[in-house]
Order: sequence, then C-alpha cells, then structure tokens
Amino acid sequence: MLKTVAVILAAGCGERAGFTRPKQLVKLAGRPVIAHALERFQLHSGVDEIAIVTSQACRDEIEELVRREHLTKVKKVLLGGHERYESSLAAIRAYEPREGETGPALIFHDAVRPLVSERIISDVIDGLAHYSAVDVAIPASDTVIVSDPDTDTITTIPDRRHTRLGQTPQGFHYEVIRRAYDIALSDPSFRTTDDCGVIVKYLPDQKVFIVPGAQCNMKLTYAEDLMIIDKYMHCNAARRHDATPEHILLSRIQDRTIVVLGGTSGIGFSIARLARAYGARVRIASRSTGVDIANEAAVRNFLHETAAESGRIDAVVNSAAVLERVPLVNMNMEEVEDSIRTNILGAFTVAKASYDHLRQTGGHLLFFASSSYTFGRAQYSTYSAAKAAVVNLTQALADEWSAVGIHVNCVNPERCKTPMREKAFGYEPPDTLLDPDDVARKALSILIGRSTGFIYDVVKNQGR
Ligand code: C5P
Repeated sequence: MLKTVAVILAAGCGERAGFTRPKQLVKLAGRPVIAHALERFQLHSGVDEIAIVTSQACRDEIEELVRREHLTKVKKVLLGGHERYESSLAAIRAYEPREGETGPALIFHDAVRPLVSERIISDVIDGLAHYSAVDVAIPASDTVIVSDPDTDTITTIPDRRHTRLGQTPQGFHYEVIRRAYDIALSDPSFRTTDDCGVIVKYLPDQKVFIVPGAQCNMKLTYAEDLMIIDKYMHCNAARRHDATPEHILLSRIQDRTIVVLGGTSGIGFSIARLARAYGARVRIASRSTGVDIANEAAVRNFLHETAAESGRIDAVVNSAAVLERVPLVNMNMEEVEDSIRTNILGAFTVAKASYDHLRQTGGHLLFFASSSYTFGRAQYSTYSAAKAAVVNLTQALADEWSAVGIHVNCVNPERCKTPMREKAFGYEPPDTLLDPDDVARKALSILIGRSTGFIYDVVKNQGR
C-alpha cells in the first residue's frame, strides 16, 4: 500500500477575494477556513500524513492552529511560492524519495475548500489504485466558452455534455506528478493553475481519472462565497447530528449539568425531559419559576445556585422567548420593548451570566432562533428581528469566546408544535409541525459535540 499524504495548499494571499486577511484564515463557524479542511483529512482513515504549504506571513498562525486543534497527522509545514504551482512543487520536493524507493501518493487540496467530504477523499484514494492521476469535478451547469483574450471573442464552445468544473483534491502517484513537473519546468511558456493540468499537458498519455465532486465542495474565492459555504456547512452539520447514535448520546450526556432557561414549556421542556432521561443533572427555570431572562440578577443567582449545588455547569440552553402576532403599528412602544427585552436582551443577559461558569468547563451555550431570522415576517416583526439578532450574537460570541473554549451555537427550528406557537397561530395540522422532542434530540447532540458558531436548521423530515 502506498503511503498517502494530503498536501493542503495554503500559501495564497487571497487578493481576489476582497478579504483583509488570507482567505484560508478567515473565520467560518468560529474557526479558520483551513481548520475545517484540515479536519476532514485528519479524520479520514485513508490519509497517513498531512503537509501544509503556507506563506512566511501565515506560518506562525498555522503552526499554532496545528497545535491547538491537535492535528496529529500534520508532519510538515512548508513554505510555498508566489504561484500555486510553486506551492505544489514545494510539497513534491519535500517528499522526494530516497534512491530506489517509491514516493508517496500526494493528494493536493485547496485549503479554501473547507467542505470536502469523506466520500470525495475516499474516491480519490480508491482511484489511485487504478490510475496514477485523479481529479475531482462536477458537471458544468453553465456553458463554458473558450475565448480569445486579445479580442474578447469566442474561439470555441465545447459541447456542454463534456465540460466539467474541476475541484480538488487531486491525487497523484509521486513519480508521475514529479515527471510532469520536471518536463513543465523546462518549458519557458509553462503556466498552470492546477496540478492535473500539468499531467494533461506534459504527459498526454497518462489518463487522469475523474471522480464526482460536489456543489458544496466550493472554493472560497469572493467574500460572498463565505455566506454560501456557511449555509452549506450548517445544512451538512444538521444532517450529521441526526445520525448521532443513541449510545453516544447516552454516554456523553450522562452526569452533565445542563441548565435550561425557558425549560417549563415547549422545546425547553422537551430538552430538559430528554436530558434527564439520558442521565444528566438538569435545572430548569422560566418566568413562571421566578427567573425572567431579562433580569440579570435573577439569572446570575440561578446559575450561581446551580453551580454551587452541582459543582459545575456544562451547558446553558436558552429557549425562553415571547411571540406576539401583532402588526407593528398596533403595538405600543412598551410592547415592542417587552418583546425586545426578552428575545434580545435576555440572550445577552444569559450569555454574560453564563460566561464564568462555561469557561471553567469548556461548556456550551445554546440559543434558539426561528426560520423567520433569514427573512423578516409580517405580523411578528419584533420576534423576527430579535431572532436575526440572536443568530448574529451566536456568531459573534463563538468567535469572541473560542479562545477560552466556550462553544456557542444556535438551533433554528422551523414551525414547531409548542404552546407558544399555538397561542400565536391557533390550530395547525400537527403533521405539518416539528415535534419538540425531535428538536430536543438535535439540541442534545449539539451539546455533546465540539462545534461552535453554527446555526443548525432543523426541518421536518430532515434526512428522510
Ligand atoms: O488562488 P486560488 O483560489 O486558486 O488558490 C487555491 C488554493 O491554492 C488556496 O488554498 C491557496 O492558498 C493555494 N495557493 C498556494 N500558493 C499560491 C497560490 C495559491 O498554496 N501561490
């Protein structure tokens, strides 16, 4: 079996992206983009070793990241060049085999494609059992036009049935990619933007096998791509949590101390009940037990008492909210302030009061949004706007508190069968609504994970 080395190319400066930092270091769900890509290769059983190619300017930050994220497979941090191919070459040279030995399989991946899947990596590795070069591509949905850049006119239009869009990873047998580059470097007109292109041009007899990529395996190029990648990431993560096996939930929730604010009703009630069933120590509070989340002293006292009693707090879930369906012009400012006090200020209060407790345990803070956060809804503008604020707060705190190890996430359930919803919307057919127990299960699986800065969409019949 060939040794397989994943080479993560991260020496670009991201000039095109309009970011103020190299795009591989831009934060996505609370962690640098490259950390997500690295994690995929770290976790893949077919990858033996990882090499990162970076720039001098980013080297310290990358090395610190490798330490912080316990990326045990990373054995080399190399310096790349000005052009992407120079960065690939740095890795090829670093893995030069000794006389008579065979070099490893090299799998080059853009650090700025954080959503590469286990399936794609596996397909590339499997492809290398039969081919010495493997590419990843998706069908081109737009027509590809080959142009003459001098005259801005069309040269040819390839048949769309045969055009695909290349992605990474791209895998190679060492000797083949080495030979292709050796020939390329003796060509004064050599230019390339990807490694398979070097094989196709300089070793035309070598077949390059193509494995299917994925739309979500997109490259972070422009600032707006970050929002799309972020959304893909949350959808994928929500699906992953659906599959959390029972025994894992059971073993990881057991004996944790979980505080549920808003735990006397609706989703909070379901979370508390399920967490208890899994053996957690659960403390609930709500306005009806005398703890209004907008009242800082009340929240602080409650958390303080819980910590004194249990010795620790592992998670704080804030599911308390108020929802009134009233057109804004029919609300007086007192009512507006009331909604904002609970739905927004309450979230800030809970966050501030939880900080010291969760810092001690590297714990979790979990908020709740609503599908109205993405698009404000008529008749409940204060609630919609508040939920958009909660999402933003989640992202900000995940970033702000990542250094102290607190995880901050948010669940975004679609219409859910709760007393609060029924009061505002009246009767709705139950089979059109989410079951709060399903949302609770998802919430618990988030509380046993390591993610931070995620907004988990929960929709009915997810994954089915
Ligand atoms: O510039 P582009 O978006 O094509 O970069 C793709 C990947 O190649 C990025 O992860 C980038 O960091 C890497 N790269 C590199 N060395 C360069 C240019 C780009 O490692 N000189």
